[in-house]
Amino acid sequence: MKLQDSVIAVTGAGQGLGRAMAEYLAARGARLALIDLVPEKLETAAIACREAGGDSRIYVCNVAREDEVDATFAAIARDFGALNGVINNAGILRDGLLIKTKDGEITQRMELAQWQAVIDVNLTGVFLCGRAAASQMIALGNGGVIINIASISRAGNMGQSNYSAAKAGVSALVPVWAKELARYGIRCMGIAPGFIETDMVASMKPEALEKMTAGIPLKRMGQPEEIAQTAAFIFENEYLSGRMIEVDGGLRL
Ligand code: NAI
Repeated sequence: MKLQDSVIAVTGAGQGLGRAMAEYLAARGARLALIDLVPEKLETAAIACREAGGDSRIYVCNVAREDEVDATFAAIARDFGALNGVINNAGILRDGLLIKTKDGEITQRMELAQWQAVIDVNLTGVFLCGRAAASQMIALGNGGVIINIASISRAGNMGQSNYSAAKAGVSALVPVWAKELARYGIRCMGIAPGFIETDMVASMKPEALEKMTAGIPLKRMGQPEEIAQTAAFIFENEYLSGRMIEVDGGLRL
């Protein structure tokens, strides 16, 4: 797929990796549909895409809401007259141990609400946006590419029952959709980033951050542009489908 003039939707495009990917693709001539919960962040991201040289439109949408997602992707197809790609990137963290004890007593458990919030956005959100995007791609008859953003935590990270389960889930959807959607000219790939220097990482405790960086073979966090470059490679290479690309500096959990 050529990036020039392609219409690509990015969820969670208001900041962090989503915004970095949108800017990177805009600089290469793609037309961006920027999706996020927060309108102000979307306005800023749209300006950044314009400055990078690409056309963009903004869509305020909660990826965990079926009605909002279906309406948003229908609007994107109508506004642009095409939909060539989607990056399922929106995600949240609500970390906590499954069980926490002190002096043999259980002091805390991962709350159901804490579990559900992450599953709703990080797993159900990807299902809803992938389904809506594929529906529009099929209706438009232009084929397309779906990229699910997972995480190194898909392998199972302490304190992340909810997040690890969701990220393993979106990774599992990649080969399923690659098999089911190939007949419509749609490819599906995943990216599992390691530790990337964004706001989500900035919210981590400094001690935890330092410990993580020391354990990365390349001894540094990844840059958002390095994830964006991977997304561009996936769009452009027509023989990639059904696989995960791990961009983590060699880190293993
Ligand atoms: P971030 O927190 O900086 O940005 C996430 C964006 O998603 C925000 O703009 C937020 O408003 C939006 N968002 C959250 N819930 C939403 C919802 N329900 N509907 C629509 N938009 C919503 O996060 P970051 O770091 O840029 O991460 C992006 C993706 O990359 C996430 O899926 C994350 O799990 C994944 N990831 C990030 C890593 C990192 O080191 N930053 C490492 C591995 C994976």
